[in-house]
Amino acid sequence: MEKIIIKGGYKLKGEVNISSAKNSVLPIIAASILSGDVSIIENAPMLEDVFVICKVLESLGADVQLDTNTNCITIDTKDINSKEEPHSDLVRKMRASFLIMGPMLSRFGRVKLSLPGGCNIGSRPIDLHLKGFSALGAQIDLGHGYVEGRANRLIGNKIYLDFPSVGATENIMMAAVLAKGETVIENSAEEPEIEDLATYLNSMGACIEGAGTGTIKIKGVEELKGVRHRPIYDRIEAGTYMTAAAITKSQIKINGINEEHMKPILAKLSECGVNMEIKNESVIIYGEGDIKAVDIKTMPYPGFPTDMQAQMMALLAIAKGTSIITETVFENRFMHAPELKRMGANVKIDGRSAVIEGVKKLTGAEVKATDLRAGAALIICALAAEGCTSISDVYHIDRGYVDIENKLKALGANIERINY
Ligand code: UD1
Repeated sequence: MEKIIIKGGYKLKGEVNISSAKNSVLPIIAASILSGDVSIIENAPMLEDVFVICKVLESLGADVQLDTNTNCITIDTKDINSKEEPHSDLVRKMRASFLIMGPMLSRFGRVKLSLPGGCNIGSRPIDLHLKGFSALGAQIDLGHGYVEGRANRLIGNKIYLDFPSVGATENIMMAAVLAKGETVIENSAEEPEIEDLATYLNSMGACIEGAGTGTIKIKGVEELKGVRHRPIYDRIEAGTYMTAAAITKSQIKINGINEEHMKPILAKLSECGVNMEIKNESVIIYGEGDIKAVDIKTMPYPGFPTDMQAQMMALLAIAKGTSIITETVFENRFMHAPELKRMGANVKIDGRSAVIEGVKKLTGAEVKATDLRAGAALIICALAAEGCTSISDVYHIDRGYVDIENKLKALGANIERINY
């Protein structure tokens, strides 16, 4: 077991490079199934979640090579076999494994998968994914903890999503690219990662318009080929380092941002009084002065991302005044609040809202990462807290942050990882 130990109160300085977006790379790897050819993902983040989806593809018969020197992943999906089933542990371990359902159904007309199950931040159903596949003509059967999909060939259709689910939009889009005729997904999710997936699919030969908006049109094609792709930067990793600079009142340069993708986060940090300067694909954070209390409501993109909610709660813990955070995307995503309270934060939870009274100082404590972004929030608090913080269950953090303690150490943080 590993822990991260942080001695707070050190200013950060210097530069940090942002990795490619985990939430782009996972569906892109799943989409590689569609070609039956060789694809290369450049600048891939070497993360636990990425390793899991690669193992899922391998369990289906793909040849996957991860080169940790060049950060390239080479995926040959020629020998994928629809008779194989990925081990249920892999699908249960990471919900995003379910993203192989659309590509498998589209290429082979058959797929059987373990149901992804619940997770810490909410029940996270898959009904929207399945409704989409049914609308494309697939027969879906559920039973004994498995979902099975069958179709001769999927047929394009009009699909309206009750909620703009990121995963459902991606899964249906991947199912529709090889379907017969045109598919229109309405009320589709607009996240930048969906646009990135469409860019990848289009370069493979797909015909997708409107990705990144609320209506996506897909004209089915007969086949796709393997390509090279460099995914977009991770806007959540960048936002996490921005809050780390703001809470420690530090000046740092963050390289690898897309200003358009970052707008919801940049606007909220500006409202908090954080000064910044954007130059090309970098931002300099001038973390001087007090943090102002703000209200936040998480929403699908271009609203404020739920994946930055925990990190913002950490920052608002030391703001001047009272902030209210309303979580509208997931029903149980305040698990970090009791841990932040152990560090002196004054947070009250009432249903889907959290009321945060800013305090003058935070203090180091023994805390536990309850999920990926909750873990990031604890690191942010610990950087500013008086004394030492010990964070356990750091495997959650490793699912989504490349080399976080070394990146922070290079910025001057007093941080180390220990085995216990
Ligand atoms: C993706 C991201 C995750 C992010 C989330 C919301 C990846 C790998 N993960 O997760 O980091 O927090 O988007 O931005 O990209 N829902 C249903 N039925 C469904 C599908 C979803 O009711 O069939 C609900 C969920 O329970 C949740 C909401 O829709 O309340 C949003 O979920 P969704 O957008 O699907 O998130 P994910 O794709 O799982």
